[in-house]
Amino acid sequence: MPNLIIGATGLLGKALMREYAPGAAVGVGSKQVDIRQRSQVEAAVERVRPDWIVLAAAYTDVDGCETNQQLAFDVNCRGAVNVVQAAREFGSRLMFLSTDYVFDGTKEAPYQAHDERNPQSVYGKSKAEAEIHITELLPDACVVRTSWLYGVGGRCFPDTILNLAARRPDIDVVNDQRGSPTYAPDLAHAIVQLCAKDAGGIVHATNRGDCTWYEFAREIVTRAGLPTVIHPTTSDKFVRPAARPKYSVLSPSTLEKYGVEMPTWHDALTRYLRERLAR
Ligand SMILES: NC(=O)c1ccc[n+]([C@@H]2O[C@H](COP(=O)([O-])OP(=O)(O)OC[C@H]3O[C@@H](n4cnc5c(N)ncnc54)[C@H](OP(=O)(O)O)[C@@H]3O)[C@@H](O)[C@H]2O)c1
Repeated sequence: MPNLIIGATGLLGKALMREYAPGAAVGVGSKQVDIRQRSQVEAAVERVRPDWIVLAAAYTDVDGCETNQQLAFDVNCRGAVNVVQAAREFGSRLMFLSTDYVFDGTKEAPYQAHDERNPQSVYGKSKAEAEIHITELLPDACVVRTSWLYGVGGRCFPDTILNLAARRPDIDVVNDQRGSPTYAPDLAHAIVQLCAKDAGGIVHATNRGDCTWYEFAREIVTRAGLPTVIHPTTSDKFVRPAARPKYSVLSPSTLEKYGVEMPTWHDALTRYLRERLAR
């Protein structure tokens, strides 16, 4: 049976649809299936009868979630529960995409899958609550946490930096938030492997290595051969509606348990820039 990708029109969803062999996955965006509508979710799952449902759909505007709290929980939490119920009803496995923002960022060593959740933003809270419901309702579900996702064909950090660098001699970027940038095609590749390996429980999946946003931006402009100077700054000079974790590096040990290794973020960035140039 094909897998069902919910959120196939998003950054990760598009990468997933490219990763699967033709016919191996059916993808839906919010126009076909609004996960807030349980009947729409059930109808899609009943039609496809997937081995796996990959739930990549979410309300991902982290700052927007602060002002649209109801929408954040309706989509990210109650919508996810609708998908769990359908997975239970039709006997599908479920892979739910989650985030490093379920952590508070006070650790100074990579977060393990079993570390306590303590989200600091509405987005993080809505995803953390979904994780709890999902693992209670469907104990063999796989929760894949990732971070700092980017890719060609969607709004993302490297794209913003490259667009700014094309018209500005200087850019200030925060140097006090550390994480692991993750290239959507690499995550899609890991997800397909995890499904094939019948993964369950919480798995951390990011590109290897870590950096601050400043370090990432500097590497982006350097590799793109742009003269723009990137200046380090601090989060208190860049106040945004949602709090971000200062440190959200995720340990790869759960991924390694399944024999899956993701490329380094440096390697991924090289491929992203090549792909972006080719478009
Ligand atoms: N972006 C990041 O930095 C990041 C970091 C960590 C974890 N994640 C997680 O990774 C997953 C994929 O993120 P992404 O960046 O690929 O997301 P994205 O590009 O923002 O795409 C969001 C997807 O969700 C769909 N969607 C939104 N509301 C929906 C609804 N009510 N019903 C059904 N579908 C709905 C959208 O469909 P339409 O476009 O058709 O409306 C789209 O396909 C999400 O679970 C996210 O929480 C992302």
